[in-house]
Amino acid sequence: MSASAHAAPFILAQASAAFAADPYPTYAHLRAHDPVCRQPDGSLFLTRYDDVRAVITDAERFSSDKRVDFLPKFGHTPLYEHHTTSLVFNDPPYHTRVRRLLGPFFTVQAMRRMENSVATMVDDLLDSAADKRVIDIMSEFALAIPLNLVGDLLGVPRQEREPLRNWASLILGGLEPVRSADDLAAGNRAVTEFKAYLGELIAAKRRRGMPPADPDVLDALIRDHDSGDGLSIDEILHNCIFMLNAGHDTTTSLITNGVDLLLRFPDQKARLVADPALLRTAIEEMLRFESPLQIGNRKALVDCEVGGTRIAAGTFLHVCIASADHDEAQFPAAETFDIGRNPNRHLAFGHGIHFCAGNAVARMEASLAFGRLLARFPDFERAGPTIRPPRWRFRVIDELKVDLRP
Ligand code: HEM
Repeated sequence: MSASAHAAPFILAQASAAFAADPYPTYAHLRAHDPVCRQPDGSLFLTRYDDVRAVITDAERFSSDKRVDFLPKFGHTPLYEHHTTSLVFNDPPYHTRVRRLLGPFFTVQAMRRMENSVATMVDDLLDSAADKRVIDIMSEFALAIPLNLVGDLLGVPRQEREPLRNWASLILGGLEPVRSADDLAAGNRAVTEFKAYLGELIAAKRRRGMPPADPDVLDALIRDHDSGDGLSIDEILHNCIFMLNAGHDTTTSLITNGVDLLLRFPDQKARLVADPALLRTAIEEMLRFESPLQIGNRKALVDCEVGGTRIAAGTFLHVCIASADHDEAQFPAAETFDIGRNPNRHLAFGHGIHFCAGNAVARMEASLAFGRLLARFPDFERAGPTIRPPRWRFRVIDELKVDLRP
């Protein structure tokens, strides 16, 4: 990387498509020279592991509540209502209340119950893929696994799942630092349509009568609401939309980026094929090397210090998980993709009270996807370029053609 590549100050709101394609050299430069990087709007962009971890772990001093900060960006729109009602963008006590209601669906036992249907789905996808030989790993493999899992979790009928992907991209796309008026309008439409759809689904569930046992997440939240003990209908809708989006977009990225990494580092692919016992650490390394959620944020509630810099109460902080996960101070040979890396205390699932509720589910999905893909098609090869959209906050692959070489 040339020094001139970083002659200009780093401004997240002006991020380019080239930066989206490969942000890691910029992050390395910031960690070394400007780890608490001031943005023109007064916010700070944090890139070192210790600083990012310290901030996301300390919910007493660093808030996730976005009601003030999202207003100038979204106005009083459906996107504003959605993001400010999701548990991830709230503090206790509301955050604690929602998290507690969702808890039973993310226990080890609940995950075990999902495992069989995920395994069957992966096998079915690989059966169809074998017939085609060349597939797009995003649309014909990675996406279907988490989309169907979250669809099952919320009781969305199979034949009605098709629009979920597009709604998710448009709604999460609204969080990107660079957005056009058209992007925002499309995101607002997506929230409205998604809400209307879930509203109809709830009405259909009510007409059918609630299942007495084994309710899905939506059933359980409605039951709590009806007993006067739960969330309002708007809170239910927005948290379910968040879960459907967060649960499938990120896991799709983990699987597509993981395949891309195995193709970029054939020695590591060969190592994994030869020793499938490395699958667990390989998935952790994929999460570290290409963290699906790259940039989070918090706001300082009090005057404090981060990374040696004094910060005033009210300062908005961008916490760059992707950079933290490439920090040499925490990960020796951080730019080496090493599927046996251990320890590997990456921050891909966050940390603290907002630690990803679905982390075990995502790990289970990835384990079944990679375990079965590699066992069946160990010789798979690249059949096209890795196509990424200009997104910065999320590490997304739109298309990656693979020849399975059965
Ligand atoms: C590889 C896949 C995934 C990644 C990388 C990921 C990443 C994250 C991260 C970084 C956070 C914390 C955000 C913050 O602190 O501001 C988070 C929160 C969350 N994730 Fe995930 N996630 C993944 C999969 C899933 C799945 C499969 C589900 C559910 C089915 C899910 C549900 C949630 C929920 C409900 C929260 C909010 C937790 C809270 O605020 O307490 N995630 N995720």
